[in-house]
Amino acid sequence: MTPKTFKIKSFGCQMNVYDGERMAELLGAQGMSVAAESEDADLVVLNTCHIREKAAEKAYSDIGRLRREDGSKPLIALAGCVAQAEGAEAKRRSQMIDIVVGPQAYHRLPEMVAEAVRGARPVDTDMPAISKFDAMPARRRANPSSFLTIQEGCDKFCTYCVVPYTRGAEISRPWNDVVTEAEALVDAGAREIVLLGQNVNAWSDGDRGLAHLIRALAKIDGLERIRYTTSHPADMTEELIAAHGEVEKLMPYLHLPVQSGSNRILNAMNRSHTAETYLAILEKMRAARPDVALSGDFIVGFPGETEEDFEATLCIVDAVRYASAYSFKYSPRPGTPAATMEDQIPREIMDDRLQRLQERINQHRLAFNRSKVGVHTKVLIERKGRLPGQMIGRSPWLQSVHVEAGAQPGDIVSVTLVAAGPNSMTGAERQKVAA
Ligand code: SAH
Ligand code: SF4
Ligand code: F3S
Repeated sequence: MTPKTFKIKSFGCQMNVYDGERMAELLGAQGMSVAAESEDADLVVLNTCHIREKAAEKAYSDIGRLRREDGSKPLIALAGCVAQAEGAEAKRRSQMIDIVVGPQAYHRLPEMVAEAVRGARPVDTDMPAISKFDAMPARRRANPSSFLTIQEGCDKFCTYCVVPYTRGAEISRPWNDVVTEAEALVDAGAREIVLLGQNVNAWSDGDRGLAHLIRALAKIDGLERIRYTTSHPADMTEELIAAHGEVEKLMPYLHLPVQSGSNRILNAMNRSHTAETYLAILEKMRAARPDVALSGDFIVGFPGETEEDFEATLCIVDAVRYASAYSFKYSPRPGTPAATMEDQIPREIMDDRLQRLQERINQHRLAFNRSKVGVHTKVLIERKGRLPGQMIGRSPWLQSVHVEAGAQPGDIVSVTLVAAGPNSMTGAERQKVAA
């Protein structure tokens, strides 16, 4: 029977969240609607992540749980990076999977659903030259802060990472497509756009780079805030840094993963920067935009990492004073060079290092949040909080801010930040800024 309702569950990075939204729009355009509960959905799309072993295994355990008490099951589509990495193999691992669709092929989802209804188990993990984006319906819905993928794939081949294999080579969406989609999102109510890419700052169209694009998007009426993520140090151009000092709508926030503070490890990771060149970029960034909030990613326990290497990582955390940062235990991924390197680090050592690193990061995050107490700023309201009258939004520095305000999602309110916690701030409303 042709499915009438669907549920999409996205895991992993923001690009998967974006893809999940687009798949929902695509299925919606076919007349299907979102199921209230995933148990009742006729079609469940698991939009998966392959970045670490745990993330990938989660996909299969989730599939198992989709069998209903009466023994029936929804139509199941495995999408995202696990689908790309495993291809037809996924169908052998789980008989419950009906459709396998990679991240560059999901524009074919409706036709694959039709094939599955006829009893086939279609697989599409092609990475076609024709962009999936062209096959998508125009955007009619937006969140106050909306994601917009402008770049996909990666040519950097860090030795631990699956992304170049699951997302393919670096490609940029054309200038006009991006601008058109941004305008549609703003028309639909977006006040902030977060430009996305696995290497978003590698975006280009001819001789125009991300800085040009941001300057053009800043001219869209009604768009108040622009962010972009994730950036690679190698593509952090002078123009982009300068834009942070000049474009008011570009928020004072930069997520720039370093991964390790040890040059020996960075070299083994095939990162093209050293601790010194990375710090030099951030110094320029702080010169252009002194209040910029800095964020990063770290991996602990990369093969061969010594206590000394790890201490270099703690050192770089102290040198940068991150406003926030993500840290992960190294997870060997099949097919990547690091997975077969000698001197894999035992789990207990990884656990210990991760804990020490996270403590250090948390100290800096709290210090950053405390440094903002007393500051007057603006908060973009995104949703209701748990308490009556409480709303939750974001500061320019991407802090989550709780405010008691008669505001609606999408409003931008002037607040004084009055209290800081490790994970959020409390704001007191000053005056409502006309929407
Ligand atoms: N393109 C981005 C990162 C994409 S993956 C960049 O280069 O910064 C997001 C983060 O996951 C990475 O920054 C890295 O810290 C982490 N990661 C990637 N592969 C991993 C692995 N095999 N084990 C543990 N963490 C990993
Ligand atoms: Fe992965 Fe490195 Fe590419 Fe980032 S730059 S996606 S970590 S290979
Ligand atoms: Fe995961 Fe794929 Fe994103 S592996 S982090 S969902 S690019």
